[in-house]
Amino acid sequence: MKNSKNIILIGDGAIGSSYAFNCLMTGVGKSIGIIDINMKRVQGDVEDLRDALPYTSQQNIYAANYADCRYADLIVITAGLPQKPGQTRLELIQKNAVIIKDISNQIMANDFDGIIVIASNPVDILTELVFKTTGLPRNQVIGSGTALDSARLRSEISQRFNVDARSVSGYILGEHGDSEFPVWDFTTIGGQPIRKWIPENRQDEVLEEIATTVKDAAYSIISQKGATFYGIAASLTRITQAILNDDLTPFALSIHLTGEYGLSDVSIGVPAIIGANGLDRIIELDLNEEDAKKMSDSAKLLKNMDIQNS
Ligand code: 2OP
Repeated sequence: MKNSKNIILIGDGAIGSSYAFNCLMTGVGKSIGIIDINMKRVQGDVEDLRDALPYTSQQNIYAANYADCRYADLIVITAGLPQKPGQTRLELIQKNAVIIKDISNQIMANDFDGIIVIASNPVDILTELVFKTTGLPRNQVIGSGTALDSARLRSEISQRFNVDARSVSGYILGEHGDSEFPVWDFTTIGGQPIRKWIPENRQDEVLEEIATTVKDAAYSIISQKGATFYGIAASLTRITQAILNDDLTPFALSIHLTGEYGLSDVSIGVPAIIGANGLDRIIELDLNEEDAKKMSDSAKLLKNMDIQNS
């Protein structure tokens, strides 16, 4: 029988285990089964996470296998190699594509029919690969896309303008990577457009600084501590919560497009409302000419990336 709010996590590295811990601490999901190529590590994590149970909500944490996917509502994939210092996300494509294709096949061999959320990089290309390999409808295949970058944008703005990050609205769209871009026309602090918060003669300079800080955030973190995990784990937890609770919350996510933003046959970061069915609606922002070009350039770049031997 399908157990409601049953999560399977595939990939128990720094991101996966931070995600499991965060779900546990915030009461997201009813059960979390963990799969990794290193099942010894999984067993260690399961034992460690269970030690937190008396302080959290009642959840079932267990070492899973692919047969458990049959009963899952949501599968979160964080498996694959992470970026090394100085490496771009796109450079991970060949090795991670092999891993993600294999995982997709194993999931489907167990008749999974829930929602897949993938965070492995390069996330847009791998989201498209999961969509094509599984044959699931597009609403059931969601990439974390630029949700994390949008959180970084809100956090950076909150620091600069000394205001609660939750009162900042805005998105980074496009590739989760070097061609991503902010949509300033739709970025507000407490409902006030961001440009109004900056003296007119400094607007371009300040907005450029914010965009660069956000785009380079992962490089900065990786150069100092070797990996990023808390930010993406928090984004994945919120995405999970929105799906399992049918919250219908908008995030910037990588979704397979079928004409939206004038694009098709590509998964790329767009504002999307998600709930119990996964993708509920895509929000088609009325992008200005410059941003529309950035979106189409970013999509072109992703479409030109080849996955060999797959
Ligand atoms: C990040 O942006 C590395 O894609 C990961 O933190």
